[in-house]
Amino acid sequence: MAHIIAIANQKGGVGKTTTTINLGAYLADGKKSVLIVDLDPQGNTSSGLGIAKDKLAGDLYDVLVEKMPALAVVQETAIKGLSVLPASPVLAAAEVELVAHAKREFKLREAIKDLSYDYIIIDCPPSLGILTINGLVAANDLIIPVQAEFYALEGLGQLVQTVQRVRKGLNPKLGLMGVLVTMHNGRTSLSTQVHSEIKRHFPDKVFDTVIPRNVRLAEAPSFGKSIMHYDKWSKGAKAYKDFAKEVVKRSKQPAGKS
Ligand SMILES: Nc1ncnc2c1ncn2[C@@H]1O[C@H](COP(=O)(O)OP(=O)(O)OP(=O)(O)O)[C@@H](O)[C@H]1O
Ligand SMILES: [Mg+2]
Repeated sequence: MAHIIAIANQKGGVGKTTTTINLGAYLADGKKSVLIVDLDPQGNTSSGLGIAKDKLAGDLYDVLVEKMPALAVVQETAIKGLSVLPASPVLAAAEVELVAHAKREFKLREAIKDLSYDYIIIDCPPSLGILTINGLVAANDLIIPVQAEFYALEGLGQLVQTVQRVRKGLNPKLGLMGVLVTMHNGRTSLSTQVHSEIKRHFPDKVFDTVIPRNVRLAEAPSFGKSIMHYDKWSKGAKAYKDFAKEVVKRSKQPAGKS
């Protein structure tokens, strides 16, 4: 069975999509079969992987709302072993339309339950609406990227409460794999302070790998490439490679809660 990981934080711009793309790329590089689910109507993951959104046969909206089989819309990427279930702006309508559906929180879980990949990584949108809930219900594990900046911890309480609510009613198996510190600037004491504070809040849950602020990571998506193909010798590439190794290691351990 696939290991299904949701990448979520309702705060915008913390590195969810960058983490999804580059984790997916390095897992595929390690000979794993990987599907990335783009659960965000912005479709940044899809375009960051070089998918032309105007030429799609369908997207996640068709799967969640129109019951199209997931495999009918899955696209191969330029990276061997890495596929994507793409999103486009119509997916925003699902947020409204699903409200009237029975079992609306289970649409994604149902859609991907029979797929055979080693890993399925779900890039959630920056909200705690029905799309993100679908992501949390479909996943066995959660990774929370947190930007190393002053307001980093703001709003995390709300995310943790949502996760607890999901565990109580909808998905008791949801574990917290870890918290990933992103956009860390080693030259500022603020980044270091925020890193320690995140560790205090999530004892034993913070990944050892810290993702540095690195302009190459920000440039890569405009070329439709992961950092592995855009600049594999950059600091950002090394960090995501190490991070993928940690994820594989943690995937073998029983999912911890807290
Ligand atoms: N480590 C990094 N160093 C430099 N820039 C980064 C890094 N990580 C992400 N970025 C850039 O920061 C911006 C936000 O990152 P990203 O899109 O991954 O965040 P997000 O959480 O997915 O955003 P959203 O909430 O809008 O979906 C992007 O322009 C991205 O290229
Ligand atoms: Mg994103």
